[in-house]
Amino acid sequence: MSGFGDPPPDLDRPGFGTPAADDGPSPPTTVTDGAPTPRDESPAVPAPPEPAADDPPAPSAPAALPGAPARVSVRVNGERHTAAVEPRTLLSDFLRHQLGLTGTKVGCEDGTCGSCTIQLDGEPVLACLTFAIQVDEAQITTIEGLEPGRLQESFHEHHALQCGFCTAGMLLTLDAYLRDHPEPTEAQLKEALAGNLCRCTGYAPIIEAVRNR
Ligand code: FES
Ligand code: FES
Repeated sequence: MSGFGDPPPDLDRPGFGTPAADDGPSPPTTVTDGAPTPRDESPAVPAPPEPAADDPPAPSAPAALPGAPARVSVRVNGERHTAAVEPRTLLSDFLRHQLGLTGTKVGCEDGTCGSCTIQLDGEPVLACLTFAIQVDEAQITTIEGLEPGRLQESFHEHHALQCGFCTAGMLLTLDAYLRDHPEPTEAQLKEALAGNLCRCTGYAPIIEAVRNR
């Protein structure tokens, strides 16, 4: 097995571009009706010996280095972005640091608070539990791309936010939920928002805002 300490190959030996001293020009080949050509008459190359049962396995082609950047192409808020990301890059970090979309908030980074919620192909997803390379060729909506509408106005009218840290995640969760449940009960709303924590409002204004939008 070669390594960094091995001497360089002998470039003068046959097989490295320099013909051997006794190599003559190749004999011309002539196509005849089925007759063998001079090349046909050359001795067959002996087959390599069969590996013994206890030989180590032959080296396979080098695999991609673990951690090497990978290409991701994703449509975010209707705009195509193609970038190199490390396999460990979280979607939340990709959105915030590589695309500059800081409306996606990062609170716990362990899937508890819901502040990093985005929509992946229309469904709410936690960006802190998703790797950027997992969303290749997907459609993502962040709070910057959410169409302004009655939901946001109602949040404003009902004081459904104070510091606002949870609000992007709340709105993206609700936007997806209300598509399928346009008239939710209070109990349904509480269940729908169970994964989005708010430390400021006590939730009552948020529920009011949704029900009176
Ligand atoms: S930051 Fe993703 S769930 Fe808290
Ligand atoms: S408004 Fe502050 S965390 Fe919800």
